[in-house]
Amino acid sequence: PTRASKRLKGQSQHKGFGKLILFGEHFVVYKVPALVGAVAAYTECVVEPSSAEWSHGLIVEDNRPAIPGYKDEKADEMLEGTQLVLKHLGWDTAKKGLKITLGGDLCAVSGIGASAANCVSVARAVAAAQGRSLSEEEINAAGYEGEKGYHGEPSGIDNTAATYGGVLKFQRTDGAPLFETRKLASPALIVYASTGITASTSKVVADVKAKKEKEPKWFDGLLAEYLDIYNAAEEALKTCDWKAVGALADKNHALLQQLTVSCPELDKLVDAARGAGALGAKLAGTGRGGLMWAICADAKSQQAVADALGKIAPQVWKTEFA
Ligand code: MEV
Repeated sequence: PTRASKRLKGQSQHKGFGKLILFGEHFVVYKVPALVGAVAAYTECVVEPSSAEWSHGLIVEDNRPAIPGYKDEKADEMLEGTQLVLKHLGWDTAKKGLKITLGGDLCAVSGIGASAANCVSVARAVAAAQGRSLSEEEINAAGYEGEKGYHGEPSGIDNTAATYGGVLKFQRTDGAPLFETRKLASPALIVYASTGITASTSKVVADVKAKKEKEPKWFDGLLAEYLDIYNAAEEALKTCDWKAVGALADKNHALLQQLTVSCPELDKLVDAARGAGALGAKLAGTGRGGLMWAICADAKSQQAVADALGKIAPQVWKTEFA
């Protein structure tokens, strides 16, 4: 266990999962379906309401493991996200103080949905401290409010994965987003790696929007290609055809390159994973830094890909989607 998870042991822990977008980042903003997989690692939160010693205010002790620089870069957004969750749940720290301690084994890195995992874990812990038993839907809604502090206008895919876990189809609509769980008959073996670059989701999403508005036909062409990938990916997941999933990951990465959200660092990791025997690889999440994932045929190949990426990436993790 990490230092953080030891610290929180014995207290009531409230979790939010990390996620990797399998297919559909950026396109998902424009209401087409995406596939997302929650990773096994999570952020956990413990809250302590103020006692006699201090009556009001907010203290956040952030013990999450993180890549260097991540927490400093996101500190303001993290506080804003936390305050939005508190506001949504009706906890006024000017009247009743709160100490929030974050821990868990999810390494905070751009692309893993660390902000959503954070907001969902806070929502669960605060609701419990209020003595409320909220539905998963209500927790998800509170997590979404917090995400706005980080992202401006997020699609909701990250908080949904952070709340429910597993593999999900997610689609934004004019009303509430739709999501459905996907049960996999066998686990998908994944390696994910960080470029070490922390990207700003709101900035990259705004840039894609500007490009779309300038060249709508070009964007619609990419969107149509993406939909073919998505439909084929749904079929491949039904039969756990990982070779097909890998080939589709390669295609989706090429589309994201055209969308200008990849970068040389991501391309290098994607190429290295393929070179080490991965069935396919793509960037995951915002892009222009952040993460990539690769899918592997078996545990031996998963280790070989992790070893190859470990030589050139600052951080590498293995996980399974189940
Ligand atoms: C970020 O994890 C995924 C994006 O599609 C933005 C969003 O869906 O909110 C880039």
